[in-house]
Amino acid sequence: MLCGKQLILIVVLAVVALATASDGVHDVRELTGASLVQPAFSTDVAIGKYTPPEEMDRKFWYDLANKELAARLKLTQPNTKKAKNLILFLGDGMSLSTVTGARILKGQRQGHTGEEASLSFETFPHTGLSRTYCSNAQVPDSACTATAYLCGVKTNIINIGVTAAVSFNNCTESQDPANRLTSIAEWAQNAGKATGIVTTTTLTHASPSGAYAKTANRMWECDTDVKDYDVDPKTCIDMATQLITQIPGKNFDVMLGGGMGKFLPKTIQDVHGNQGERSDGINLLSRWQAQHPGGVLVSNRNHLLSVNVSSVKSIIGLFQSDLMDFNMEADASYQPTLSEMTEVTIKKLSQNKNGYFAFIEGGRIDHGNHYNQAGYALDETLEFEKAIKLARDLTNIEDTLIVVTSDHGHTLSIAGYPGRGTPILGLNNHDRDVNGVKYTVLNYAAGPKNYLDKKGQRIDLTNKIGANDFVFPSYITKDIGVHSGEDVGIFASGPQSHLFTGMMQQSTIPHLMAYAACIGNGPKLCDAK
Ligand SMILES: *[C@@H]1O[C@H](CO)[C@@H](O)[C@H](O)[C@H]1NC(C)=O
Ligand SMILES: *[C@@H]1O[C@H](CO)[C@@H](O)[C@H](O)[C@H]1NC(C)=O
Ligand SMILES: [Zn+2]
Repeated sequence: MLCGKQLILIVVLAVVALATASDGVHDVRELTGASLVQPAFSTDVAIGKYTPPEEMDRKFWYDLANKELAARLKLTQPNTKKAKNLILFLGDGMSLSTVTGARILKGQRQGHTGEEASLSFETFPHTGLSRTYCSNAQVPDSACTATAYLCGVKTNIINIGVTAAVSFNNCTESQDPANRLTSIAEWAQNAGKATGIVTTTTLTHASPSGAYAKTANRMWECDTDVKDYDVDPKTCIDMATQLITQIPGKNFDVMLGGGMGKFLPKTIQDVHGNQGERSDGINLLSRWQAQHPGGVLVSNRNHLLSVNVSSVKSIIGLFQSDLMDFNMEADASYQPTLSEMTEVTIKKLSQNKNGYFAFIEGGRIDHGNHYNQAGYALDETLEFEKAIKLARDLTNIEDTLIVVTSDHGHTLSIAGYPGRGTPILGLNNHDRDVNGVKYTVLNYAAGPKNYLDKKGQRIDLTNKIGANDFVFPSYITKDIGVHSGEDVGIFASGPQSHLFTGMMQQSTIPHLMAYAACIGNGPKLCDAK
């Protein structure tokens, strides 16, 4: 027997199949036959041709509202326990429009209209908003924001782990003890907790570096980079060296990501087939292995998945020479997914009886958005949400606080009046520009392609759109897209998750997590009792 839901699904799929077969365009409502030149809002194009039948009955919405009300009424008794474990998930460049777009793509990949779908972290009980500006920037970068959500202090753009008293590339100022910050990873280590960082970018990229680095320039990833900025790498130590030789980096139990080149001399070819990038001749990976008896260095998926977390003391994984590949482009037999890295990390860190702190980044959402390749940005967001679901399933909601947030927005917009179920990566079939030309549902304020013809008129993208790597249109032409300055979301689950509500400064996030776990030098739940 088919239940109602299955029947509806079949109807939707049949309509999609029909529309796709008849005109090759991936939109259920290509059949609107709208006239070309339209005023700003025209009812005959703006009205979608498909409404889910169940949504025509008010009972559908009343029932849904009752479910959502019941969930909120249950929250009157928040989880006031102490958090033994802390996991901070960071979607780099995961603007709220990216969250919405990813949610729609998830639903559409499952054969639904999409708008009604939910990402794993959207079901978390408490949500808030984070203000992302930095000390000298209305719109921030990933370095000053990492300093905010990991060290709990806002700083200048490009700085990591140092205060706003440090100016760009000023080595001297960054060495002044008064300007150097500690991160929540260090607070956790001081409390006897295990610590780990995971990213799909490089271990020396801005976001994970917030957990360990102190630098006046996020580009100082290896000694060669420091020299390129006319600074002496002996005085201002590069971030890869900080990670391997200084507190708290050298004490990390797990470090997984890309960027092997920053750890190896130019004279060495790494296992991925590329030359190292260091000029000082130092092999930081050999040094790490010498200092971590019982530690294991892994460089591909099989290596990682074969690690026995009970028998190794610590793990460093470097799965590419530079950034890890976009999930859609990756060799899945070679490069682990974010979920796989998350699973190994949680299993390893949870062996510590005092608990752990983990920082886990979906780092390439940002790059998809920078390149205006929204398909990549949304797919990376779906990989991110899978890892979060896995983390919630692997951990105990009574002792593990999971906080999901982003560092900054991107200029992605979901525009026009596309009908319900319109493919999120497709054309908006219900609106036209002033010249009567259709436009894409997703657009960016800035990026590499504006798709204008010689007369400055927008070209029709009907036969151009569809590939995974399609570059969506932008208004301001630049080599790559730019960040945006609106607030980003915070989603929390577990002990003290009710603290993560309302509008807050991004720099408040680690202080709330530290309060929940009774770590750091600030106010603590354990003192309040
Ligand atoms: C760094 O800052 C100090 C003062 O804080 C200043 O005297 C010095 O010139 C700066 N160095 C550079 C290279 O800008
Ligand atoms: C993993 O290591 C532990 C401790 O050394 C050992 O007892 C266990 O058998 C190992 N598991 C596997 C699957 O090898
Ligand atoms: Zn960025």
